[in-house]
Amino acid sequence: MADITLRVNGSERKVSVAPEAPLLWVLRDTLELTGTKFGCGAGLCGACTVHVEGNAIRSCSTPVSQVAGKSITTIEGLSAKGLHVLQQAWLAEEVPQCGYCQTGQIMSAAALLAKTPNPTDDEIIKAMNGNLCRCGTYERIRKAIHRAASNVSASGAAR
Ligand code: FES
Ligand code: FES
Repeated sequence: MADITLRVNGSERKVSVAPEAPLLWVLRDTLELTGTKFGCGAGLCGACTVHVEGNAIRSCSTPVSQVAGKSITTIEGLSAKGLHVLQQAWLAEEVPQCGYCQTGQIMSAAALLAKTPNPTDDEIIKAMNGNLCRCGTYERIRKAIHRAASNVSASGAAR
């Protein structure tokens, strides 16, 4: 066990965990942030996607010791106001079916929009390629990302 300090959703959190523990399980089990989901556990499906220093990463295959002191954002902290422009677009396009993959989809989409505010279809497909959806909601996801991008352009803000 090791004492590790994390910065999660803007707050400093001290945890005492095995350094090799996957970030996913520290978020879910230790910090009780259960919005981030377990899918494959092998970096293949994207369900566990969170941001570390603004980049989308797979928390299931990231040892917690690797992100000590770094800024981590989960779906719970995506928007200070609780309804990020992407979440609004997801609602408007009625994207989710079973919903299981959607946290990871939104986190990957948020990382994309932060770097590419007005992505093309090709850029969306490339950025979202590692996020699988067994319900096949890909077309609605693409539409929701375009909707969010145009809303960001209109308002000049991503949050
Ligand atoms: S649970 Fe992490 S990529 Fe599938
Ligand atoms: S909405 Fe069911 S897995 Fe994506």
